[in-house]
Amino acid sequence: MNMTDRPSEAAHEFAGCWITDNSIVCDKARSPEPMTVFKSFSIKKDVRRAVIYATAVGNYFVTINEEKITDEMLAPGYTSYAYALQYQEYDITHRLAQENEIVAVVSGGWAVGRYGFTGKARAYAPRQLFRCDIVIEYDDGSRQVFSTDESWQVSTSGAYTVAGLYEGVCFDARKSISDIPWKNADKADWKYHPGIRPTYGVLAHRQEILKPVEMHPSKRGGTIYDFGQNCSAVICLDIKNAKAGQQILVRHAEILLDGELFTSNLRKAEATVRYICRDGRQFFTPELTTMGFRYVRVQGIEPEDLTITAQVVSSLDAPTGGFACSNERLNQLQSNIQWGARSNFVDIPTDCPQRDERMGWTGDIAVFADTACFNFDTARFFDKWLQDVIYDQGRGGGIPLVVPCGQYPLPVLATAGWGDCASLVPWAQYMKNGDTGLIERQYESVQKLLGAETFWSGFLHFGKKRHIWKWPVQLGDWLSPGEDLKQWMRKGPWIATAYYYHTADIASKMAERLNKQEDVWKYQALMKQIEDSFRSVFTDGDGKLFREFQSAYICPIHFGMLSEAERMKMGDHLDELVKQNDYKINTGFLGTPYLLFALSDTGHVETAYKVLLNEECPGWLYAVKTGATTIWERWDALLPDGTVNLTNDLESEATATSADQDIEDQNAQSMTSFNHYAYGAVGDWLYRRVAGLEALEPGWKRFRVKPVLGGGLTWAEAYTQTPLGTARVHWKFEGDLFEVTIEVPSGASCEVVLPNGERQILSEGQHHITCHA
Ligand code: BGC
Repeated sequence: MNMTDRPSEAAHEFAGCWITDNSIVCDKARSPEPMTVFKSFSIKKDVRRAVIYATAVGNYFVTINEEKITDEMLAPGYTSYAYALQYQEYDITHRLAQENEIVAVVSGGWAVGRYGFTGKARAYAPRQLFRCDIVIEYDDGSRQVFSTDESWQVSTSGAYTVAGLYEGVCFDARKSISDIPWKNADKADWKYHPGIRPTYGVLAHRQEILKPVEMHPSKRGGTIYDFGQNCSAVICLDIKNAKAGQQILVRHAEILLDGELFTSNLRKAEATVRYICRDGRQFFTPELTTMGFRYVRVQGIEPEDLTITAQVVSSLDAPTGGFACSNERLNQLQSNIQWGARSNFVDIPTDCPQRDERMGWTGDIAVFADTACFNFDTARFFDKWLQDVIYDQGRGGGIPLVVPCGQYPLPVLATAGWGDCASLVPWAQYMKNGDTGLIERQYESVQKLLGAETFWSGFLHFGKKRHIWKWPVQLGDWLSPGEDLKQWMRKGPWIATAYYYHTADIASKMAERLNKQEDVWKYQALMKQIEDSFRSVFTDGDGKLFREFQSAYICPIHFGMLSEAERMKMGDHLDELVKQNDYKINTGFLGTPYLLFALSDTGHVETAYKVLLNEECPGWLYAVKTGATTIWERWDALLPDGTVNLTNDLESEATATSADQDIEDQNAQSMTSFNHYAYGAVGDWLYRRVAGLEALEPGWKRFRVKPVLGGGLTWAEAYTQTPLGTARVHWKFEGDLFEVTIEVPSGASCEVVLPNGERQILSEGQHHITCHA
């Protein structure tokens, strides 16, 4: 694929029509009954190549002769379905016999029935649809095609009787193909006519297997297993000595309290696997769902008859970047950041993998994109999702709070941070890969967004307030500790105006790269106006805010607003605030990623390190100290007294006797996820300042190594894969001797700035430099 072009419309023209089972009734509050599809087909000898092309409205997987043909999960992936739908192509040449059976199971997935926490989602279709062509090419040049039509069979009484992203699954292993009451499929029309294209994102897929690190009996019966890592995964059950009809129930949770599963924070997500055995030995792992968990409770089987593992599910493969240093807690933080990313890059960038959301909240990825790009190859994943940002952008330029948002009933407005995903995400990816095609594709969307931001900041605002962005809805300092929604929102205008400036800045830089000089001037002029408004409305003209709070200083400093002198003064005031707060963070989603930059880049390195290394709540290492293996949604998700920050408590788990009762008692309002990547955006500072590794040009043709020493660290290292090869740094500091080893990929150059102020330009190869600091 040419890097500058998005994949074209379908390479494969489906001969098959959409089929469904008209008996399925979609209830918006639940996932519909899974639809099982069946077709037997015979083929001739001498097959040269056999391929399945398949897609669905819903999620699906396919087996050929009872074997699943791919490690991919949740096909066809989530796109803004009214505009684009992916199809998959699977080579089955070596799986065919003369007589064959294809079975597909289609759940509601993201498209039909329940999705999103309000329970008000509109479905893309009243029931699941499936479409498939099996294309056989023979050595003699002939071809045979088996395409979905009314001769295919469907049933809602297949082995999967429940399958949903939130529900989990219910699977009856006693049902074989011959027991299922089949009927002919119904031909279906679909009101949407999206471009049906080969997979152009990265489907979530099965990855490594985690074994339990600990197990103990549950007071509620059954056994609790600990997999040692919170993640997005599915369990794998290897069952011995089963009796037909024996029911195994598996519940999932992120944490234990008093040794028992804590499930209240899942809200209305049942996250349950119910497996009904056939006789003897058997193996099961669910499809059509994933769960966010570290612990499971298994009931209905003796531990000696079960080998249980968890298989990680993510769209991200092995990291392509790494950071380590002499502080073990920071290394655990880095591990938590990477696991947070892996758990939430599940076809789309989600907020969390466990509760009844798992949606593409745009603000979360806006602030995390830079860190993600350092750690993983995200190019294809972002490219697909950014296409949905374009599809879902409102006519007025607003960006929905969740993308894809097609079925979600939220108004499409301009909200700072969340909407700015349209500029921040492509810019982060562009700095990583230097793919001008990406910014070419996204530029118009950024322009439209700026149009919306300009409209709303000017709404009922005149004179010097003209560019203060307040309306229509700001989430402001979302989740800043110790405050509530109203307080976060009231802090909106400071943060929003700074993000508005930042997006104008990105637009001007994009325009420069795209040789649109007039736009460069236009956006630079806009930046100047925003800056003037900010200065005259919020500051005394000399870098001091009339209303002070951490995020209100952080954003303008980091986005390069105001003059250098004003920024340095703002840095001093921020430093003061942080010290007054005992080096504790006081920021929400939008200020947090840049707090340490704002401090260190205005000369407050010691304060930055003290905040980073603070182990009290709120602070990054508080969660690490408490045993977290991922990043939490709230700084105080687990309170210092060991309880969870929820109004509801363990009661539901302690008293309920079935999974359904566990759910009934939950506090649907609670918002306490132990796996939200947003605060992991500090990873960017670990790479850029602690290790000192930073691109100076998109695509890393020029980069810098300039470690910021402090925090008692005696060594640090980082690497990231760039389009030219791996850029790597390792430094150590002993006594007053500083040593650094730098790897410069071929075709790149590196400016190294040593602690004694000396600068050198390095060309490709490995370099070892020492100096006295
Ligand atoms: C999500 C967040 C999101 C926020 C915005 C929450 O429910 O989990 O991460 O950004 O809503 O309102």
